[in-house]
Amino acid sequence: MLVHIKDIVREAQKGGYALGAFNVTNLESILAVARAAVKANSAAIIQVSESAIKYMGLKPVTHIVSTVAKNVAAAVPIALHLDHGSSFDAVFECINAGFTSVHIDASSLPLDENINLTKQVVKVAHARRVWVQGEVGAIVGSPGDISARLKAIPLAKPEEVIKFVKETKVDTIAAAIGTAHGVHANEDIVFSLLKAIKKQVKIPFILHGGSGVADSKIKKAVKEGVNIINVGTDLKVAFCQTLINTCLKNKKETDPRNLLKPTIAAMEKTIMEKMKLFGSAGRYRAAKMET
Ligand code: G3H
Ligand code: ZN
Repeated sequence: MLVHIKDIVREAQKGGYALGAFNVTNLESILAVARAAVKANSAAIIQVSESAIKYMGLKPVTHIVSTVAKNVAAAVPIALHLDHGSSFDAVFECINAGFTSVHIDASSLPLDENINLTKQVVKVAHARRVWVQGEVGAIVGSPGDISARLKAIPLAKPEEVIKFVKETKVDTIAAAIGTAHGVHANEDIVFSLLKAIKKQVKIPFILHGGSGVADSKIKKAVKEGVNIINVGTDLKVAFCQTLINTCLKNKKETDPRNLLKPTIAAMEKTIMEKMKLFGSAGRYRAAKMET
C-alpha cells in the first residue's frame, strides 16, 4: 500500500533498523521492489531521480508506483520519494504529483545559498504535509559508475550540518560521511563523523551511496542510527548484467518479457538481501502483530 514516508520512517526509528530507499528506473525495478517488500515483510521507499522521471515521465511513474503499491504490495507499506531534486521547480512538480517526500539537493552551493533554497522548499512542502530531505557536503560519484577509485571523497563539516538542520527545519538529512555514488574501492563510512552528527542532529539520517559499502560497515551504521540507506547502482548492475547474459543466451528470443523477467528476479534478490542487512525484513508483520 502507498503510505506517507513519515509513517514508515518513524516505525524504523522506533525499531532501530534502517529502510532501504531503492532507485527505480523502469517498470521492472518498481515491480522488483514491491515483490521483494512483500516477500521480506518489509516496508520500502521507492525513489526516483530527475533522470528517471525524464525517462519514464512524472505522471506515468507516479501512477505506476501507486498502482503497484496498491495491487502488488497491498500487504506492506511503500513510500514514494524524489531523490536529488536539483531545483525548486523539480521538487514542486513532485509535490504536486503526490510524492510524500522530496530531496532538495543544493549541496553544491555555498552553505548560505543551500540553506536559503532549502528553506523555500520546506515552506511550500510543509504547507502540503510533504517531508523534505536536505543535503550538506555534496556526495560525489554517480549512480551506475563502477570505476575502481574516486580521486577524493570530501566530507561534510558537522557544525555545518547542525546549522543547516536548525535553520531549514528539514525533516530528514543527508550528509557526506565517506560514501560515494556508484561502487568505488575507496568509499567508506567515517564513523566518528556520523557519531558527531547523530549526537546533535535528531532528525532521521540518510546514507547515500549505499552500493559498494561493506556489509559489516552498513550494519554498524544502522546501529549508529542511520535510518534510511539509498541503493541505486547495485540494482542497475543486477538489471544490466542479467539482461546482457539473458540476451546472449537467447539470441533468437522474440518476446521481450522472456528477456526481462529474469532481471526482475535478479533485482528482487538484491533488494531482499539489502532488507535483511538493513534490518527492515520481517518488521512489518511483527509490528502489526504487536498493535
Ligand atoms: O541517491 C542515490 C543513492 O545515493 C544511490 O547510491 O548508487 O551508490 O547505491 P548508489
Ligand atoms: Zn544519493
